[in-house]
Amino acid sequence: MDRLEVVLPVLNASLILISGVCLLVGFYFIRVRRHIKHHKRSMIAATLFAALFLIVYVTRTVLFGGKLFAGSGWGRIVYLGILGSHSVLAVLVGPMALVTLYRAFNRDFGRHRRIARLTLPTWLYVAVTGWIVYWMLYHMA
Ligand code: HEM
Repeated sequence: MDRLEVVLPVLNASLILISGVCLLVGFYFIRVRRHIKHHKRSMIAATLFAALFLIVYVTRTVLFGGKLFAGSGWGRIVYLGILGSHSVLAVLVGPMALVTLYRAFNRDFGRHRRIARLTLPTWLYVAVTGWIVYWMLYHMA
């Protein structure tokens, strides 16, 4: 198998996971420490890692296409359920993140907080299920 075909999925899953960790760090800084500068930096880092993920994901799909889940029965049903919710929310979280950032940069912090409380858990769900999908696809079956 092409080395790149093995490396890119690991890189992909790592980028989305790092993005999720940056989100948690950013949440800690605003919620516990009320430290806006560190919150801002962590959230920008989360956005950059998510953007990198998107670039690697598109590159991988163009170069190698999609990979089908090899399992069957309940494993397959669980996999498809996770993949479905992951994909739908991954599409939604992009515009949600842009609005969240837009409001923050416009110093519209009240409305920023309102949408951010939806964006954050949605983004985390996408990050965690992204890792689960990767694991089920490449290490389970
Ligand atoms: C997409 C990236 C971002 C996400 C997901 C995010 C997430 C959050 C969340 C969940 C809260 C509410 C915390 C709570 O429950 O009290 C919050 C508050 C806040 N965020 Fe962000 N944030 C992001 C980007 C930014 C940026 C870039 C800035 C600075 C320019 C910023 C400044 C603030 C401030 C000042 C608050 C406090 C608002 C208040 O309590 O009225 N955020 N953010």
